[in-house]
Amino acid sequence: MKLSGKDLLGLKELSAEEIRYILYQAEIMKQILVQDAKKTPHLQGRTVVTLFYENSTRTRLSFELASKYMSANAANITASGSSVAKGESLIDTARTLDVMGTDVIVIRHQMSGAPHLIAQHVKAAVVNAGDGMNEHPTQALLDMLTMKEKKGRIEGLKVAIVGDVAHSRVARSNIYGLNKMGAEVVLGGPATLMPRDIESLGVTAYEDVDKAIKGADVVMCLRLQKERQQSGLLPSMREYSKFFGVDTKRLRLAKEDALIMHPGPVNRGIELCTDAINLDRAVIDEQVTNGVAVRMAVLNILAKRGN
Ligand code: NCD
Repeated sequence: MKLSGKDLLGLKELSAEEIRYILYQAEIMKQILVQDAKKTPHLQGRTVVTLFYENSTRTRLSFELASKYMSANAANITASGSSVAKGESLIDTARTLDVMGTDVIVIRHQMSGAPHLIAQHVKAAVVNAGDGMNEHPTQALLDMLTMKEKKGRIEGLKVAIVGDVAHSRVARSNIYGLNKMGAEVVLGGPATLMPRDIESLGVTAYEDVDKAIKGADVVMCLRLQKERQQSGLLPSMREYSKFFGVDTKRLRLAKEDALIMHPGPVNRGIELCTDAINLDRAVIDEQVTNGVAVRMAVLNILAKRGN
């Protein structure tokens, strides 16, 4: 099987079958990660470039390690150290990478739609590693892989996504993906951080976080995206964590064995408290590991689409 497009821009564009295919490939890649010698010839001779215009630790490193584990040539560019800082346009930068023989361009950009724009101008496959407030497809894929691994299924799960939904590309990609895979998505968070039209995506949204968490199989907390917020959306951090933060008391409303997830980086004590992070059913580390497996699968599928 192949994906229908040359790129991975969002889960909005993928079918349930394509998502299932990537997750299956990621399960195979995960076997490589548990070995001492993590090296396979899958991407020998292929070139992957990560082009990051926003900060990142796990996403960038996991794409880089995924490339290296599969023997690809891997390079990284950050906006501050490149000609972007000299005023070069996004399309010109991407075309430069393209004509140097890059097979896959992984891009993170503060503008929603930036990966879609460059995808039209390059021969390379483009992977969206987060575009503004729009999508972060590989994050949702690694979240779904983690749910599948821990719960044995995605279909029928009740997933509560809690926090700053408005600014979250992670929430949007999970909504698209989880809906397609047959899970029920319930959102919780302050009205000022909840997009007005979000229920049109087939989810239920509550301002009362307790209502969202009640009976959930998975509680996914989101980072408060201070860098994307205008002022005046929130009272104080203390009030935010009191009314919308997830702690062990609030977690009692979820199923007893509910998974606790967070895409990272966590603002400890704001959206999620340390006691909750320390619970056995908090799977934040597993999410990070699965991020490498998912990115290996995605790079392998896209870099080899031509043959
Ligand atoms: C997310 C992102 O950058 O969108 N982080 C990540 O990729 N692990 C979430 C966030 O920054 O809050």
